[in-house]
Formats: sequence, C-alpha cells, structure tokens
Amino acid sequence: MQFNMSTASCLLTVLFLLLSVVGFCHGGVTSSYVRKAEGSSDLPKEAFPPPPGFNAPEQVHITQGDRGGRGVIISWVTPLMRHPNFVPYWAAEGKLKNYKLTAPAKITSYRYFNYTSGYIHHATIKRLEYDTKYFYEIGIGVCARLFHFRTPPKVGPDVPYTFGIMGDLGQTINSNETLEHYISNPTAQTMLFAGDLSYADDHPYHDNERWDTWGRFIEKSAAYQPWIWTAGNHELDFAPEIQEYVPFKPYMNRYHVPYRSSQSTSPLWYSIKRASAHIIVLSSYSAYGKYTPQYTWLKQELTKVNRAETPWLIVLLHSPWYNSNNYHFMEGESMRVAFESWFVESKVDIVLAGHVHAYERSERISNVRYNITDGLSTPIKDQSAPIYITIGDGGNIEGIANSFTDPQPSYSAFREASFGHATLAIKNRTHAHYTWHRNQDSNAVAADSLWLYNRHYYPVEELSH
Ligand SMILES: [Fe+2]
Repeated sequence: MQFNMSTASCLLTVLFLLLSVVGFCHGGVTSSYVRKAEGSSDLPKEAFPPPPGFNAPEQVHITQGDRGGRGVIISWVTPLMRHPNFVPYWAAEGKLKNYKLTAPAKITSYRYFNYTSGYIHHATIKRLEYDTKYFYEIGIGVCARLFHFRTPPKVGPDVPYTFGIMGDLGQTINSNETLEHYISNPTAQTMLFAGDLSYADDHPYHDNERWDTWGRFIEKSAAYQPWIWTAGNHELDFAPEIQEYVPFKPYMNRYHVPYRSSQSTSPLWYSIKRASAHIIVLSSYSAYGKYTPQYTWLKQELTKVNRAETPWLIVLLHSPWYNSNNYHFMEGESMRVAFESWFVESKVDIVLAGHVHAYERSERISNVRYNITDGLSTPIKDQSAPIYITIGDGGNIEGIANSFTDPQPSYSAFREASFGHATLAIKNRTHAHYTWHRNQDSNAVAADSLWLYNRHYYPVEELSH
C-alpha cells in the first residue's frame, strides 16, 4: 500500500510537470529551461593559436563547389607568403584509391582599416566521385597538414543525408561548447550555417584578427565537412566611421560559395543540391524588392526546383520571419512580405534563420491573406507553409536573448533561451527527423524534436509535441 501510494504520487508529480511544460493557455511551449544571461566575452586570441611552422597554412575550411555535390571549394590562409597555393588530393577508397591529383588555388587578400589579411587561397575541385572519402594535404615539408572529407551521394529523391544546423556562433566559451557538442555528434555530414560568423565587428575597428581566430576555431569541423554559408548582419563590416565602405568585404574574401553554378550574380544568394535536398541561401541584408537581382534570381530559382530529384526544399536566411522574441522583433518582416507567398506556393519544407540568440520553432503557418484593407492580419495554420526555425543560439559575445513576448503567440510551437545546435536527418522523400540539442545535454538528448513530413510528397500535419 505504501509502495502504491508513493508510485501514484510520483505519477501525479510527473503528470503535473508535463502539463506545466506544455501549458494550458496555448499550443506552444516556452521551455522552463532558461540559460543564465551572464556575459560571454570572446576567448583570448591566444586560445586560437596558428599551427606551428613558418608560414604554416591555417584556417582551413571547405564548402560545396558546384551545383550537385561533386565539387568542393577548399580554402586556407598562408600568413606570410603566397605559397603553397595548390592542394594535392586523392581518394581514400574506390577504383581511384590513392591516385593523387593537384588543384591550384586562386589567391585573394584585402585591407581593412589598419589590418592586412594573409593570403587567402580558394581551390575549387570538380568532378569528384560521389559518396567517397578524400584526403587532401595543405602545406609542404614539416608544415604539411592532412585533412579529409566525404562527398555526398548522388542527388536523388530517397537519398538519406543528415545536415547540422547552427547560427550566430562567434568565439566565446559558449561558442566552443556548441561547436564541440556538434563535432561530438557523429551523424551530421554537412553544416547549414545561418549567418553571423566571427563577430569581429564587435571589437574596436572591427578587429579583423578576429576573423583569423574564428577561421582557426572552426577548422576542427569546417576542414572535414562542408559548411554552407549564409551572410548575416555581422558579415556586413560596413563602417564609414573608419572609411570602410564596401559591405561584406572580409566575409566575401574569406568564404567563397559556388554561386555562379546556380546562375546567381552574387555570392550572397545562391543554391545547391545535395543528396535529396535543394538548398536556397538568401541575403537578409541585400536588396530583395521587386526587380532587384536577388528578387529576380529567387523567382527564377523556384521554378527550377525539381521535387522528383530533390524532394526536400530548404531555405537559409539570417533574419527570421517568425520570431516571438523581443530581440530583433519583426526585423525580418519586409522580406517575409516580399517572399512568403512564393514559399507557400513552392511548398518549402523548412526555413532556417539565425540572428536572435535563442531557439524557436514555428508551427506550419502563413500570413499571405493580408492586403492592408481586409483586416486578415493574423497568421493561420497552413500545411503548404514551411516550418520556421530560429537557431541563432551558437553562443556569441552578445549573450542570450532571454526576453520572449508574452503570451506566446499561436504560431510559436517551441522556444527556449539557451545555446545549442540542431540536426536534420533526411530519411527518404517523405520523412526527416529534426532534433535540437542544447549544450548542457549529451548528444543523445534532444531538447526539441519533430518528425518532419515532406510538403510535396506527404503534406500531413506533424505532431508538434
Ligand atoms: Fe544577426
């Protein structure tokens, strides 16, 4: 009897806790887990030392180098001399195992206020074998550094593939926790990065050495799997007060993307196909009004999406369209007004944004009825609409965004003010498993998770909680 009473009491407590978490007043969840808002200054530069040796190559990172995944762009910096500006590479398996080829690099460099960059090398390699491990080596003699990556499988409708998702990373102790947590997750094969990289611009004169330290920081992941880049506001580096008038100068010198292969005229917006996903990257900080290059490109691009080839349509941008945090509230609104109807018509599966330093996942909602005079200004449930994820919770110098609007709006399914990363594990043309991992948990724990159903092949409402 004693045992039964205590069991019943435990069950009631668990039930009460569960009900407290899901809430009674609305469908969404505001997690009770709120991270402390203590300061998070950048780690000292000495925490990101260059590799040993004279002119040793550093800041090695890779991204997709073509439209369909057989290409890779390998980038690195040499601090003092232009050489070596080539990269030997060879397959670790398959019929061309150990057959060594060499790719030349294009060199760029730039000046920013009182800073001069090292030599920034970008080597584009194309026509690799699909689904194959490759080695590559940068540097010569005692400075030679060996890395590896795996190409994706051939693009196709039922190709399983797992993406990592991160945003607003910076270079604090929290950033390091997020990145280490991500690296310890063995499943993610390619990073979808939602913008705001180094936060160099939070330092006096946009201290561009912070771009170098950030490049060294992320190398432990970005040299081994592609990071797909999106530009955020911290990539602008537009600073008339120090006579720096060229937007995105450090970012565009350092992080090259294959924009021409999707007929884009700017590295700030482009698309790739990888495994079973068609990924569109947009720029929240470039013109997107009617007739602008980005508007014209996106309109064309959406007509090229072939769901028979790539069932999953994913969009990356920086400033979220649906955000119920008081930080950056409605900053993405004008872009939403410009493009939301296209996303609904195209049945975009998921939109990934950063900018707000917290985590939030939306319901499938749209707000395209509103025409100023009809009064229909509230978002409605819409099974043709994307799920919007805000994942600006990398853990940068600016700290946590811990002020959510109250009450939680109906479009918001789950939100939490702490740091972490997410993964999107595409299983086939209908199902993908999405998980968000807060830094304080082990990778086996998902603080938020959802089976996503493909909008083209299986447009069924997901069970949100
Ligand atoms: Fe931002």
